[in-house]
Amino acid sequence: MRLRRGFTVFLKFAFPLVFIIGSTAVYYLYEPHGSIGLVFHRRAWIQREILPLSPLAGCFKPERISPLYNVSDAVYGRKRFEVQAGVPMRMGMDCYELAGIVSFAEGERKTEEQYIPPEERAQFHTYWRVDLAPLGEKQEYMLKSFFATQDLPRSRLILWSNGDLSNYSVVQKYLELFPGSFTLQIVDIPELAKDTAMENHHLLNLEDKKAWVDGDLVRLLVIWAYGGAWIDMDMLLTRDLSPLLEHEFVTQWDCYDKIYQPFNGALMHFYKHSPYLCEAFHLMAHSTPPRSPSTDWGSVLYHRLWRRLLNESIPPFKILPFCFSDPLVCRLDNRAPEPFEPDRIDGKWTGRPGEGLEEGGALDRALGKIFAVHLHNRWDKAFPEGGWVDRLLLRRHEEEMERKVRINGEL
Ligand SMILES: *[C@@H]1O[C@H](CO)[C@@H](O)[C@H](O)[C@H]1NC(C)=O
Ligand SMILES: *[C@@H]1O[C@H](CO)[C@@H](O)[C@H](O)[C@H]1NC(C)=O
Ligand SMILES: *[C@@H]1O[C@H](CO)[C@@H](O)[C@H](O)[C@H]1NC(C)=O
Repeated sequence: MRLRRGFTVFLKFAFPLVFIIGSTAVYYLYEPHGSIGLVFHRRAWIQREILPLSPLAGCFKPERISPLYNVSDAVYGRKRFEVQAGVPMRMGMDCYELAGIVSFAEGERKTEEQYIPPEERAQFHTYWRVDLAPLGEKQEYMLKSFFATQDLPRSRLILWSNGDLSNYSVVQKYLELFPGSFTLQIVDIPELAKDTAMENHHLLNLEDKKAWVDGDLVRLLVIWAYGGAWIDMDMLLTRDLSPLLEHEFVTQWDCYDKIYQPFNGALMHFYKHSPYLCEAFHLMAHSTPPRSPSTDWGSVLYHRLWRRLLNESIPPFKILPFCFSDPLVCRLDNRAPEPFEPDRIDGKWTGRPGEGLEEGGALDRALGKIFAVHLHNRWDKAFPEGGWVDRLLLRRHEEEMERKVRINGEL
């Protein structure tokens, strides 16, 4: 009888106590690791679409390279900056520090004051589908961030759309302020696809509700035709992108290195008539049609192309580390705070002076090192007034833009 009571007491109190003390000790001594998100990929899809390496189209053969593309410069040339780390940079602020190194020294670049015709400037492209939503204040934040942070006398932003945007007062304002650095264009997919493997392809008039597949196609076509960098409309630029433009690149999806979806095209750069894009069109034209919505013509396509380049001994395009343009996609302790919630002290961002979200604090310095903040299409959310996005980005963009207009007049 007594023995049984003793046993019950043990089960009720001593056992849970031992368990709690034990696991707390283990937690303090060891870091638990493991991916939290669980994704299921169909094995048949992996076997069919991801693993096999079909041959490339031969776009890198000397006789097929466009005279507009200098392969000895673009692919094999010496670069000023290294943009890849070789490890995932999951510790502390390593990724942000690497981004900070990709920066010209003071006075390193000659700045001639000569006027450069808009078509000869570095081209930047973005896209807005008029049928999805009107272009409003939230979309204007991206435009503002561009004009505030980029080297305007040497840059031009082309706002692509599938309908007329010239009616919007937002757009008219910037066309007037920055006539040489901003222009509108309507996407004509069959026209842009001319002379690529996608010319007259039956998949060209594919359209999906979320503009995923559609947007993925448009970005490759306009970069092919004009060359330059693509910037998704849901990005806020934080500094001049020009140190990146010696490379052709896509970006890392997040800091976890997803095995079947490692790349993102929300920010990418290729030169005009780049053989990398020529190969991408070939791959699109000769693969299973994309699922809709999906990243089959985005992330998945870049990955499939990248592996084929390796297989044929062609130096692949670069992959910018996650934080360069997407500082929200890592762990709590090294990602930027939630942009759509009021500031709060947590994890990395402490209340101690210099370590928080204040002006000149840790977050401010990190934002000055990276190039953009990708907001992942959360158009329904608003930035809290006085929150870090408002203080450290939006208000400064407004001021910087006004300063440029005051000093330079027309750009
Ligand atoms: C690599 O490419 C070659 C063609 O250049 C092809 O014959 C070979 O099967 C590819 N490798 C794999 C593993 O598929
Ligand atoms: C291509 O780039 C290399 C290295 O920058 C340069 O020496 C060469 O003149 C360029 N070729 C053409 C045709 O522009
Ligand atoms: C938009 O432009 C068209 C002509 O292109 C004009 O007829 C129409 O009134 C304009 N709408 C607005 C809202 O400005």
